[in-house]
Amino acid sequence: MLEKNPVIFIILAFVVIMVGTSITMIAPFKWINGPGDMIAEVKPYTPLQQEGRDLYMREGCNNCHSQTVRTLASDVERYGYGGTYSKSGEFVYDRPHLWGSRRTGPDLAHIGLKYPDPKGAWHRKHMENPQSVVPASNMPSYAFLNVPLDTTYSERKMKLLKFPYTQADLNDLKGKSEMDAIIAYMRKLGTDIPVKKADAAATQVLPTASNPFKDVEAIEKDAKSLFSQHCASCHGEKREGTLGPALKGSAKSDADLFKIISQGIEANGMPSFNTSLDEQKIWKIVTLIKLDTK
Ligand code: HEC
Ligand code: HEC
Repeated sequence: MLEKNPVIFIILAFVVIMVGTSITMIAPFKWINGPGDMIAEVKPYTPLQQEGRDLYMREGCNNCHSQTVRTLASDVERYGYGGTYSKSGEFVYDRPHLWGSRRTGPDLAHIGLKYPDPKGAWHRKHMENPQSVVPASNMPSYAFLNVPLDTTYSERKMKLLKFPYTQADLNDLKGKSEMDAIIAYMRKLGTDIPVKKADAAATQVLPTASNPFKDVEAIEKDAKSLFSQHCASCHGEKREGTLGPALKGSAKSDADLFKIISQGIEANGMPSFNTSLDEQKIWKIVTLIKLDTK
């Protein structure tokens, strides 16, 4: 009966939709995204990082990359890089947020943890020619970002966003390229919240532990595939050395190699793998890089 009267129908439909909307979209603001969700360690962007973020939007990187590590264990393992899943407090300075919904490429929410190199050498090489580090990549080249950064609005942006900045931050923009800005942004993502870096268990076993894999033949296939997945982008598919040194028949002891791989040499661009590779896998790789040829 009622539905035959269009005016009443529209009013009732509106009321029903509004009830649903308030319960699911408005009411939650009472208890989420409040001051309690702030994370003290999360810092606003510097002018250079903010410029990088704007370039990320200009170039539409978010059409291929998401920026949120979902709560699923598999997502945390794959994209957490030692951190955990994304929390709302990590995004308080993101205007707009760039969570995205498409993952043609990997999630970048914590990418800063994956490549700790302060000089960003890996990022530069990858941005200029993605296929030179990941041969199967379908990411386009962004070598054209090697042009001077336009800083006309940098200070205004910081004021508008109410982010703190110093004159030194602004001076830091001088002579920077668009590439520098986007790398600064990549290096910041996910690095504010401290993660458990040196896994105590992985380092403590060292003095007594010995490499359980003496027979290279038996593990070669496994080790090569692990190397290809985790190390080749910096050490070369054949361990010939590219961004990092060649790893063929190292003179270092097994235990020393284990330690380097586990803890990394982050200041020089060698990431730590104690959160992404277990002991067995690291030993397999150690056995492989002790080989002279192959
Ligand atoms: C057409 C889709 C596409 C676009 C657009 C794109 N990417 Fe990618 N990106 C990928 C794919 C696929 C990979 C994985 C293979 C690789 O590492 O190159 C990737 C990898 C990456 C990685 C390395 C991730 C890792 O875990 O090693 C970074 C960093 C990155 N992209 C940043 C960017 C930035 C910054 C932009 C914009 C300037 C961008 N991408 C635009 C597809 C894309
Ligand atoms: C993002 C780039 C990158 C990745 C990925 C990477 N490395 Fe490295 N690695 C480096 C760099 C750069 C150095 C040189 C550090 C230095 O000079 O102090 C290095 C150094 C090393 C060394 C010391 C070599 C020596 O003779 O002093 C070893 C061993 C090593 N890497 C093993 C590995 C293994 C095994 C993997 C994969 C599990 C790996 N690396 C992944 C960049 C990388």
